[in-house]
Amino acid sequence: MTVPADHIVDEFRAALDHNAVLTGGDADPFLFDPRNLRTADDAVVVRPADTAGVAATVRICATHNVAIVPQGGNTGLSFGTESPTDRPSIVLSLARLNQIESVDPDRSTITAQAGVTIEAVQNAAKAVNRVFAPDWGARGTASIGGGIATDAGGNNVVRYGNMRDNVMGIEAVLADGTIWDGRRALVKDSSGYDLKHLFIGGEGTLGIVTSAVLKLRPATPYETSLLAAITGLDALAPLLDLAQQHAPGTVTAFELMPLVAIDRVVNVFDVVKPLDADTEYFALVKLASSNPIDGQIAAFLEAGAEASLIVDAAVAGTPEQEANLWAIRDHIPPTSAYIEHQHHGLKLDTAVPVDKVKEFVQSVLDAAAKIAPMALAYGFGHVGDGNLHMMILPITDEAVEPWLEVRDAITTEIDRRVFELDGTLSAEHGVGLLLRDRIGPQKPDIEWEMMRTVKRALDPQNLFNPGKLIPLVG
Ligand code: LAC
Ligand code: ZN
Repeated sequence: MTVPADHIVDEFRAALDHNAVLTGGDADPFLFDPRNLRTADDAVVVRPADTAGVAATVRICATHNVAIVPQGGNTGLSFGTESPTDRPSIVLSLARLNQIESVDPDRSTITAQAGVTIEAVQNAAKAVNRVFAPDWGARGTASIGGGIATDAGGNNVVRYGNMRDNVMGIEAVLADGTIWDGRRALVKDSSGYDLKHLFIGGEGTLGIVTSAVLKLRPATPYETSLLAAITGLDALAPLLDLAQQHAPGTVTAFELMPLVAIDRVVNVFDVVKPLDADTEYFALVKLASSNPIDGQIAAFLEAGAEASLIVDAAVAGTPEQEANLWAIRDHIPPTSAYIEHQHHGLKLDTAVPVDKVKEFVQSVLDAAAKIAPMALAYGFGHVGDGNLHMMILPITDEAVEPWLEVRDAITTEIDRRVFELDGTLSAEHGVGLLLRDRIGPQKPDIEWEMMRTVKRALDPQNLFNPGKLIPLVG
């Protein structure tokens, strides 16, 4: 029995508007993640239209001890929106909290409800000549609330930080239904514990974020991206350094893209291969500034070539070419069904200290070659902040069975290497259920115990997203 009893569902219906409660087949669209994997067999979806509705929902759940699985855009990929099977629960969708509440260029903020998409906030910022910096492929679906829940990152973290660095204040509904309005827009505030940071990255385990004050940045009207064919993983760190030297303050994204992944995207999607070079690795670099940057780009590329780091490069000269480069990047994650058998594979959201990126990537490739030679191994992602998505995928029919035999062994081995490098298994997608039972050794027990203490204090009934994020004891 995982859905609440009918009389409880009736209470939701009585407290909320007629659109707010979905059951049976109507709930289905909310029960699949982007990989088309089910997150619940059967569920009651409650989707209030405002914060008061969220609070009313939480109060009903508290009264009847019904667990709450919050859901934003459902793009996180860490099984953070999976429904528990051992107790009645609801899926609480924040999708209808979709209002941008205020745009305040004078204080460089936007206040938006949790269900507003990342892209909608980006566009609203653009309209007032500002930038909302967080950006990743799922921008059109991923929501502010979900991004806050996982402390999402994406492509621009190297310059602007992750979600945590772009949120100034939040409103949240607490476990007894109290609405906490902490939507302050203070650049400085040393008045005690900064409680919003418990909710950012909290994966909905402490409360339901309903609205947030988001930080805007000055506009960067001069924006250019380039794709550089690079001589190898060794080139990454010195190249990033050269970019920072020759175009200081403008390096907005610095992404690793391997040839094997670019070729797949070019074959499957309507994009143009920007360069004919056949080096194993490419760097996608975005530079942005309030001043013209062509000279700096030229100097950077020249220095990169002189140092034998860059073999060839394509600089986007038009908005179409710019869009093409980023479409390639957006399509690289194999989560859409274009790589057969990819759901069996190991797909990592690891981060290591930035000076360890090369060592880490090489180490994973070596481990894969040794333990899982039947699989295709490659890495892509956010070099500038040490967050590399390593993929180890069986891509042929014959590879699946032998791969499944070694999957646990290679997972354990790679996790061990991440811990050895003082890295994290989760950099931007959250822990969810996917990593909960693997992430324990990453931190001292006392840290997990402090998290449990906070969780017990703020959610004594364990209503909010139970079983996620925090490793179980024993
Ligand atoms: C990306 C997602 C998978 O970086 O995090 O494309
Ligand atoms: Zn990423």
